[in-house]
Order: sequence, then C-alpha cells, then structure tokens
Amino acid sequence: MKLAQTPVDKICFEQHQIFVKRDDLLHPEFSGNKARKFAYFLANDFPGITKLVGYGSPQANSLYSMSALAKLKGWQLDFYVDHIAGYLRANPLGNYQAALVNGANIIDLSLRADRSKRDTLSYIEQSVMPVGPKALFVPEGGRCHYAEYGVRQLACEIIDWKQQQELSELVVFLPSGTGTTALYLSKSFKQLDASIRVCCCAVVGGEDYLKQQFTQLETDVSLHPQILDTHKRYHFGKLYPEFYQIWQQLKDTGIEFELLYDPLGWMVLSQHLAEFGSQQVLYLHQGGLLGNQSMLPRYQRKYGVSN
Ligand SMILES: Cc1ncc(COP(=O)(O)O)c(C=O)c1O
Repeated sequence: MKLAQTPVDKICFEQHQIFVKRDDLLHPEFSGNKARKFAYFLANDFPGITKLVGYGSPQANSLYSMSALAKLKGWQLDFYVDHIAGYLRANPLGNYQAALVNGANIIDLSLRADRSKRDTLSYIEQSVMPVGPKALFVPEGGRCHYAEYGVRQLACEIIDWKQQQELSELVVFLPSGTGTTALYLSKSFKQLDASIRVCCCAVVGGEDYLKQQFTQLETDVSLHPQILDTHKRYHFGKLYPEFYQIWQQLKDTGIEFELLYDPLGWMVLSQHLAEFGSQQVLYLHQGGLLGNQSMLPRYQRKYGVSN
C-alpha cells in the first residue's frame, strides 16, 4: 500500500514548466491527501477504540478514506451526513458506493427523529460522542492536529526532492478546502527550509473563512501560507464550464486531475504565474480522482460534454 514517497513529474502549462507532486499515485483508498492526513492513525495504536466517527458530504473523499481506515483498524465507521440525495441513494457511486462496500455505516440525519434541527457537528457533539462506546472523532475533511504528522512527512519529501534538483527556491501551490494540508506544509517549510513557500487558494468558502480555518489549527499567523486571490467567487461543488475546460486542457498533459478543487487551483495558478518570476512552481496533486466518477456525469448531464 503506497502511502508516501510519490514521484514528481514535469508538465508544460501555458508555456510554463510546472512540477507536479503526484500524490494522486498514493493508494486509492487514501487518496485526496487522506494518506497524509491520516498517516498518524495508520502509524499508531489506539487501545480501547472500537469506532471512528466522522461527518461530511456523502460524496466526500474523506468518507471513503475513513471507511478504509476503519476497515484496516478493525473499527466500525459511523459517518453522519446532513442528507443523502434520493438519486445517490438509488444509484450509489463514487466515494459513497466505495464506502458502503467497505462497511461504512452512513447515517442520514434528515431521517433522525431526535435531530431537532441541529447541524451535523452539534448532533455528534451532543448526542453521539457522550453516549457511545469509546470512539475517535475526526472533524470534517480530516481537519485536526493529527494531520500535522503526515503532512510534515510530505514536506520532507519535497525538501529532499528540491535538494536533488539543486533548486535555490521553490513555490508549492495547492488548492485548499479546510486548509489543513496547506497550513501544515507551510509550517513545516518555515521550520525546516525557509526557501520553500506555500501558496494556496480558497476553494470552499472565501479567503476569510480559510484564514479562520488556519487560525483554528495554528494561532501563529507567521506560519500560515499565502492565499492567492481567486478574482471571481465560485461556489464549492457547483459546475462551471470554465472548470471543465481547464480540466480538459490539463488532461492533455497526460495527468488526470479531479474536478472539485483542481480546476480552480489551476485557474488561480494561471492568473498568478507571472508573479513568481524565475521561481520554480510545484503543484501538489492531492488525488481525489474517484470523485470524478460522480462529477463527470454531472457535467455531462448539465452541458452535454463528453470525456
Ligand atoms: C482532492 C482534494 N484536493 C484538495 C483538498 C483540500 O484539502 P484541505 O482540506 O487540506 O485544504 C481535498 C480535501 O481534503 C481534496 O480531497
């Protein structure tokens, strides 16, 4: 099971040479940077724990990765979702289907009589964690201090690679959701090799939301990554023709990217490339390709495009 040490490829993007760290080649069960975020859970024992509790979207990469983690550890996974769309329930696919195959217990809160209009996190905090058997709770998207351990390993791989390439400076760019990966990468580089800096863009929520997320994990703002402006506001998970277009353009490089985070990531990178001057850029491919199984049919239904 490949959970670290991924290769770096070189591609040509809009007449620029960009390096791509191929974390999409990590084991598919821990794709979408979950191998890095969950490395701590894989490397350590948790005596007394019998259950993993998580929440998020029924199509989240983290649902599938948590189901794989629970299976490996012999734990039960209880994953809470706000609701499951009728179409998905009737036609399971992508992360949702794969998690069901792994034995995940996916709990649809919209069907719970005791919900009392509470959001998913409040429901878990008030009605799940205090009463069940000893369980390990992982916040949405793996946003927790445990993630630092594995993301630091990723930072060390990038530092080794940069030394082998004899680069004097490097910009590492990645699209952010919870910001966990970008934050712990930035913190690691500031502590281990200050010639590498991290730039990211906010894909979920805006810049202020992302800054808040960073601060919840690390109060020292000098360790935070730089957020590049997205110019236009896009809603997370919505379909945009320009996203599909850049995704296709990237496919011609021979590397498939995912359709939720990467299109905006590459668009923002394209808008800011000139600012990096002679500095080399390394784009972090964070996997998540299983999600394309549900995103591509959505694009096809909406725009009639073929892949
Ligand atoms: C493919 C992919 N890219 C980017 C992200 C965002 O990562 P983070 O939440 O650490 O910012 C995720 C979520 O984990 C993801 O699955």
